[in-house]
Formats: sequence, C-alpha cells, structure tokens
Amino acid sequence: MKAYTISRYSKEDKLQLTDVPQPVAKENEVLIEVHSASINQLDLKLKSGEFKMLLPYKFPLILGHDVAGVVVGVGAKVSRFKVGDEVFARPADFRIGTFAEFIAVNENDVALKPKNISMEQAASIPLVSLTVWQAFIEKAKLKKGQKVFIQAGSGGVGTIAIQLAKHLGATVATTTSAANFELVKSLGADVVIDYKTQDFETILKDYDLVLNSQDEKTLEKSLRILKPGGKVISISGPPDVPFAKEIGLSWLMRTVISFLSRKVRKQAKQLNVDYSFLFMQANGKQLSEIGKLIETDVIRPVVDKVLPFEQMNEAMSYVSSGRAKGKVIVKVK
Ligand SMILES: NC(=O)c1ccc[n+]([C@@H]2O[C@H](COP(=O)([O-])OP(=O)(O)OC[C@H]3O[C@@H](n4cnc5c(N)ncnc54)[C@H](OP(=O)(O)O)[C@@H]3O)[C@@H](O)[C@H]2O)c1
Repeated sequence: MKAYTISRYSKEDKLQLTDVPQPVAKENEVLIEVHSASINQLDLKLKSGEFKMLLPYKFPLILGHDVAGVVVGVGAKVSRFKVGDEVFARPADFRIGTFAEFIAVNENDVALKPKNISMEQAASIPLVSLTVWQAFIEKAKLKKGQKVFIQAGSGGVGTIAIQLAKHLGATVATTTSAANFELVKSLGADVVIDYKTQDFETILKDYDLVLNSQDEKTLEKSLRILKPGGKVISISGPPDVPFAKEIGLSWLMRTVISFLSRKVRKQAKQLNVDYSFLFMQANGKQLSEIGKLIETDVIRPVVDKVLPFEQMNEAMSYVSSGRAKGKVIVKVK
C-alpha cells in the first residue's frame, strides 16, 4: 500500500510517499481502509523529534493520528465491528499511521462514524474532540454555570472545545485574531478577545477553568485569571509527574519532568489554583459519545481545507503555519 513515512527526525524534511506492506488486523483489531485523515500539531511535533523522549517511535514511521474510513477486515476476537462499517478513530500511541491507504486499529479505539457527516468531516474529529472531552468531562468535571477560558478558539482543539463547553452549560471566553471572530461566535463563544490587540489578563477574572494550548507566558497569565481553587489544564506543556507515571516513564524521566513543571506548579500553589498537564488518550467509547453529540447537532465539525493525498506535504505546511481555522483534512480515497 501507499503510505507517507519519515525515516529520521527533522523539521524540514518532507514526508516520503512509499510502498509499505499492508497491515494485517491482529485478533482485537479492525483493518480500516482509510478514506480521510486529518493533520494534527502532534504529527509535526513527532516529525521534528520534539516528542522523542516521551514517545520513542521506530523508523520508518507512518504519521497520522485521525482516520475515517471503512472496515475491510476484522481480527478473530473483534466483537463490536464488522466488514463494511463506516468508522472513525484516533489509534493509540505506537499504533498510529493514518497517512496511509490502510491501518489496523484496536477495536477499543474505534467508533461508528456519525451518519450525518462526511468522511472528511469525520476525520476532523477524533484527536481534538477526545482531548476536549478528557479535559472538560474527565479531568475538570466542568459544570453548568462555570466560566472557562479556551485559548485559540479558532484552531482544531478550540473549535470543538467551545462547542462542548457550551453544551455543558459553561460561559466561554476565547482568544483569536479579528478575522476569526465570526467563526468563534457562531460556535457559541460568549467573550471574544483579539490576542493581537488585547490582553486577556486585563479582561477575564474569576474563571473556573483554563484550557491552555499556547506558550509559557500565556500559561502564566492564565493562572492569574482564575478564582481560588480554579484549574488550568495545559495541553501544550509543561508535562507533570502524574502524566509521567501514567505513561510509565522511569524514575529518572519523572524527575526531569518534575523539574520542567516546577515553576508553574509553584506559581499555581501561590495563587491557590491547580495546574495539570493532559496528553489525550485514544478511547473508542468516548468517541462514540462524541459521535452522538454530532448526530444531534450539538457539535459540528469545522473543516478549513480538504487536500488530496498527493498534497500531504502542502497540508502539513499549512498546519505548521498555525493559521488553520478548524481542521485540515487529507482525502486518501
Ligand atoms: N496534549 C494533548 O493531548 C494535545 C491534543 C491536541 C492538541 N494539543 C496541542 O494544542 C495546541 C493547539 O492545537 P490545535 O490543533 O488547536 O492547533 P491549530 O489548529 O494549528 O491552531 C491554529 C489556530 O490557533 C490560533 N492561534 C495561533 N496563535 C494564537 C495565539 N497566540 N492566541 C490565540 N489563538 C492563536 C490561530 O488563529 P489566528 O489565525 O487567528 O492566529 C489558528 O486558528 C498545539 O500545541 C497542539 O500540539 C495537545
């Protein structure tokens, strides 16, 4: 089959279109014919080597964390899916590789594709929506009436985060640039701040929760808009020790990670707020729940561009520009 691979860490190298053996579904896996994949910042970070200590992949590596497609084979122990099912998934770490014609995915990480959206739209959903689900529902237990600040509301994560937070009954503040104001308002944002001309720290006060996806300075400012007992959940670092334990890092790596988050944890403690890092996990059950919210029009996919498989590298460059409005999709079939 055709797949885009990398054979070393590099920010500049392009993905290589190569012929690789088609995967075979193991007993708990489904073989998916990939119709569409979406690009995530994580693909760019893995490619550059930024995650090599945390996620040590082997080469050649097929990137790609989101898939929508059709089941064309099932392992002997698969019970929830059959050949012909239209599905979507975020494959687990070390089982990624959706920038290809086929991928085998553990059935626990797969969900039926919502019927009311296209394959391209479905591929836009898994990684970002699971991130937001795990942040708001699992970790923060976001409740009706709470105030949440979602940075970069026009991005892949932000566009879904706004919609889920509104569905949970929260008041949503977000940052974006002026050109994206209408987009984030249409998704339900209550307070919209132009990060290029305004300082959110002078506008937002007594927030319950921040979803941090930007740099260290933004993270520090975010701590100061929380009310006592409020929470910052960061998806852009620094990682913390519970995360290091969760992914089974050695004592030495845990110590390194503890050091990386020392400053922000100290600042959070002084302000009587909580800091934690989230690295999203594959989860087919949660993805099914998200699928129901899509089928009932609570959440709508936001797709910026759909490019053909042949233009994978153009799609990667566009995402690396940091200007995407929602998600960038590559149509494989
Ligand atoms: N830990 C995890 O599990 C996890 C999961 C998903 C994502 N992430 C991380 O979260 C971050 C965001 O991911 P994403 O997929 O949402 O990225 P993205 O889709 O590439 O974000 C692009 C958007 O960000 C906006 N933006 C850029 N700089 C901004 C700023 N300083 N303030 C406000 N908005 C800004 C841009 O709007 P303008 O064009 O208006 O500037 C654009 O619409 C990345 O670092 C990613 O790696 C982590």
